[in-house]
Amino acid sequence: MTLRLGDTAPDFSQDSTEGKIDFYDFVGDSWAVLFSHPKDFTPVCTTELGYVGKLKPEFDKRNVKVLGLSVDPLSDHTQWVGDIEETQGHQFNFPLLADADRKVSDLYDMIHPNANDTLTVRSVFIIDPAKKVRLIITYPASTGRNFDEILRVIDSLQLTDGYKVATPVNWKDGDDVIIVPALSDEDAKERFPKGWVAHKPYLRVTPQPNK
Ligand code: BEZ
Repeated sequence: MTLRLGDTAPDFSQDSTEGKIDFYDFVGDSWAVLFSHPKDFTPVCTTELGYVGKLKPEFDKRNVKVLGLSVDPLSDHTQWVGDIEETQGHQFNFPLLADADRKVSDLYDMIHPNANDTLTVRSVFIIDPAKKVRLIITYPASTGRNFDEILRVIDSLQLTDGYKVATPVNWKDGDDVIIVPALSDEDAKERFPKGWVAHKPYLRVTPQPNK
């Protein structure tokens, strides 16, 4: 199954390091980040999972549940979690799905056979509280992801859902934003009382409205 932005994220039940996860129940009214790892006991994945553990308070602040996945059995996960805590210096504080039967990997198209027919690629899905897929990115197994970027996208999505703005290149929380071109100057005056700078009629820059 190919998932695209705006699609409904498929529900599933699968074992994890924190017991059985019923995905929709797990997410509840929160946002979610679901991300896959090629294999247990691999170095890049070990660093990624340690870093996500470190960022967990940042995800919590944004009302985001994090859920990892690897296509190995729970017994391996349990042992690996010990290694991750030992080497990365953080408690393992979120669930890791044990997807040995590839139920979730297949559902979310995380195995790309022409790259590798047994391991997952490094997929990331951001899913909103309505269970819509809002971001999909795919990294190769050899490249660790930048989870600060995932947080940055969540900040952008949560902001742009609430205001008629879009975020420019390399934007980070607190930077100026762009008024969506569909909004007339007349309507913009009401919504953006701090005003804006119009570099072009379609490029109107305004301070971040919720700051
Ligand atoms: C790693 O996580 O280190 C890794 C996994 C699969 C292939 C290459 C690297």
